[in-house]
Amino acid sequence: MSICKCPRWLKITLVVLLVLGAVGGFTAWYKFFREVPQPAFANAEERFKYGSIGGENEAGLPYWLYLVLPRLFPEHLPGPGGYASLGLPWEPGHDTPIGFTKKTVGFPRVSQTCAVCHTTSYRVSHDSNPVFIPAGPGHTTDIQGFFRFLKKAVNDPRFNADNIMSEIAMVTKLSWLDRQIYRFLLIPITQQRLKEQNFDWMERPHMPGWGPGRDDPMNLTKYFMLNMPEDGTYGPADMPSIWNLDKYKPGMALNWDGATSVPRSVIIDSALGIMVKPQRDFKEQMHWMENYLRKLPAPKYPFALDTARAAVGKQVFDRHCASCHASERTGHSVPLAEISTDDERLNSWNKEAAIKANQVVRDKGVIRDGMVEQTLTGYVAQFLDGIWARAPYLHNGAVPTLRDLLTPPAQRPAVFWRGYDVYDPVQVGFITQGPQAERNGYRHDTNARANSNRGHDFGTRLPETEKSALIEYLKTL
Ligand code: HEC
Ligand code: HEC
Repeated sequence: MSICKCPRWLKITLVVLLVLGAVGGFTAWYKFFREVPQPAFANAEERFKYGSIGGENEAGLPYWLYLVLPRLFPEHLPGPGGYASLGLPWEPGHDTPIGFTKKTVGFPRVSQTCAVCHTTSYRVSHDSNPVFIPAGPGHTTDIQGFFRFLKKAVNDPRFNADNIMSEIAMVTKLSWLDRQIYRFLLIPITQQRLKEQNFDWMERPHMPGWGPGRDDPMNLTKYFMLNMPEDGTYGPADMPSIWNLDKYKPGMALNWDGATSVPRSVIIDSALGIMVKPQRDFKEQMHWMENYLRKLPAPKYPFALDTARAAVGKQVFDRHCASCHASERTGHSVPLAEISTDDERLNSWNKEAAIKANQVVRDKGVIRDGMVEQTLTGYVAQFLDGIWARAPYLHNGAVPTLRDLLTPPAQRPAVFWRGYDVYDPVQVGFITQGPQAERNGYRHDTNARANSNRGHDFGTRLPETEKSALIEYLKTL
């Protein structure tokens, strides 16, 4: 059967073109879209730490580019040691930090997952290895430093294909085709996309840095996800623990200000926030994440405990703290006037933004309960499970240790260094003063905007014996 009534040479040409087209199409699919499942994870914790939740398709960095960037631009990182200088939790033997996923979608890509902000690192002493607690607050992770690094790197004139390709050649041997793909497509496209991201709003002079362990979550949502105009607010927030989500019963509120009412919604919005596209296995991924986080227990206090003293402390707790932290008020918003902590995080979100966020998520075809479309008036009375591992304290991380939280606000440390991970079992928190903390940490000035350590003065006038008993009890939660 003939394809058409035309000369033989044309038929042959057509067939050749068709074949070439098919080969080209297959190559394009293979090189850009072919999804290779990650190797199976040994257990749920490994999946939480390294498992893709789908961010690679939209926001994945080409792996080799990710790998050589710190070698090319060490001066744009906060210190020596490559990405490690960003305080990312990093286990020996892994080529990415915890919370960075590696997956092949056409080409190997690196993306982020929840664990980058929700993994705690602590050490027993400066010389010991870190212990990682999945779903704990990522108090060492410098997200702003990461954004700044990417931004400075892509705007550096040395960010060009020649430099990057010769750096890549030092670490791997790519095929001829892959070299062309990197040179002519991946490098320029990545540069273009990163240049388009607007980070200017987080660089205004009246805003102190987020520092490790914090980001400006509601403004990230407003400016990156909702494209709302910059509104002058600044609401840096401490990364919370996200274990044991089963504790949140219907009608309770999540997020520091109670902006969302069900765990599933926070999980979905967080995923969309790190640019996961709601596609194919999105529902399954979110379902898995929710189940894992619902059932994951808070970590046990790993140092010595005085159980007799803790039992005395429980009585102090019941008298002074339980009314908010172990009662029908727990998991519900307490009016700001009753707590008097810093108000900037509260002011960084509003009803209009909540309505818009719900609309944007609906438009993506995702069905969820949504953010609370109300004016919020306070901060949620936290569950205190695993509180020993959640330092520094309060929504803006302005109080270094539990001991400091039980000290009248005027006498709490006015300046301290956050992000150093050696644990202090006496004050209960991380070490935030002294040469090591200063070298490894970020200076938190409580007089700077949104950094205030005021308020929550409950228990600050208790006698010393009661305070130390209370602290002993808090370690057991
Ligand atoms: C860039 C850092 C970052 C990433 C990545 C991130 N989170 Fe969070 N998460 C935060 C911060 C900061 C808050 C506190 C928000 C606020 O101010 O209320 C938070 C709050 C939460 C809460 C509310 C906790 C509570 O008790 O109120 C949950 C649940 C949560 N995140 C889950 C996730 C999940 C699941 C992912 C991954 C899909 C994720 N987060 C990714 C930084 C992050
Ligand atoms: C009137 C209600 C109320 C009482 C009483 C109260 N708290 Fe709180 N607590 C809160 C609220 C609300 C927050 C969140 C405030 C913020 O972050 O700005 C909070 C935060 C905390 C945090 C920090 C949680 C974190 O993840 O950073 C700790 C620790 C804490 N409270 C311990 C105590 C102890 C100990 C007592 C008793 C001495 C106590 N609270 C009494 C309402 C209360």
